[in-house]
Amino acid sequence: MRSLIDILDLSVEEIDALISDAESIIADPGRYADCCRGKQLAALFFEPSTRTRLSFESAMLALGGQVLSVTGAGMSSVSKGESIADTIKTVSCYADIIAMRHPQDGAALVAANSTQLPVINAGDGGHNHPTQTLADLLTIHREKGRLGHLAVGVCGDLKYGRTVHSLIAAMSRYPGIRFVLISPEALRVPDYVTDGMNRMGIPYTQTASLENALPDLDILYMTRIQRERFFDPALYEALKDSYILTADKMRLARPDMCVMHPLPRVNEISVAVDSDPRACYFKQMFNGKMMRMALIRKLLSDPATPAPRADLYHHLRCMNPRCVCQTEQELQPAFFRVPGDKEIYRCLYCEMQAR
Ligand code: NCD
Repeated sequence: MRSLIDILDLSVEEIDALISDAESIIADPGRYADCCRGKQLAALFFEPSTRTRLSFESAMLALGGQVLSVTGAGMSSVSKGESIADTIKTVSCYADIIAMRHPQDGAALVAANSTQLPVINAGDGGHNHPTQTLADLLTIHREKGRLGHLAVGVCGDLKYGRTVHSLIAAMSRYPGIRFVLISPEALRVPDYVTDGMNRMGIPYTQTASLENALPDLDILYMTRIQRERFFDPALYEALKDSYILTADKMRLARPDMCVMHPLPRVNEISVAVDSDPRACYFKQMFNGKMMRMALIRKLLSDPATPAPRADLYHHLRCMNPRCVCQTEQELQPAFFRVPGDKEIYRCLYCEMQAR
């Protein structure tokens, strides 16, 4: 069955269709109240979550389906050392579709490779978060009426912020997109993200100044500094309040700029900004449920199974300590060559450069 591990698993046309399905669901939710009757979603959350888990569960219930949940690695056999593959094989006996969040980069791909059921990546470490991107795209489409020809600022922890990685990959496929990447030097996007923009010929600038970037933006996507992904707590303390969007700073922005945030916010957006009509972050939460409804429907009815990649290499080492390939039992590390460059290989699971 079809899975959603990386946002690029969906074509632009499929994303357009999901947006239009989500609009139909918003207009007439009653029409969809039975379409997943008899189907069960397993929500496996091995990392904290409020919005993503509840919106998946609420989406499945609103489609007439049922939900099985595991929250926290401590509450399942994962805490006894069970592998991701065995956990997923177990869940596959009880459910029809799986949404999984896991702290390791690449965990969702391991899950998808261990089952015939559709697997939805609800966040894999600091790597990707494609369903947040679906929520973000519907929000931008509803607010701006288009997904192309936009200046998009992303601000905060661009290194570990998985929502940003998926958003940049998705938006790079629309015409006329320009990114302004606003972060401290130590929290810039990983090079697999800049590689993607370079390959697509997307213009982008990197800056540390939110104030300088603000006047030029159509979208400002704020993110939290991801404390749980830092190896050095002192570095987190030094960087945690790098950016705080206040009502005062909003005066620098265009009158029709959208402020977005996947939430939770820690300190990055003052509460005073909430009443600004440009604040869209609470709309994103609602839109997330609608896009997840559209996605669950699609994946449960899409028999296509993509062919496994043929162009893999196995003679290298992944250097990323957070990659699932470091711990998953008997997982064969696998690497792909970056197109156009003979020298660079990336880990299939986490996309970090291999040696
Ligand atoms: C994000 C996540 O989990 O990556 N939250 C979400 O899913 N809405 C952002 C974050 O935790 O900072």
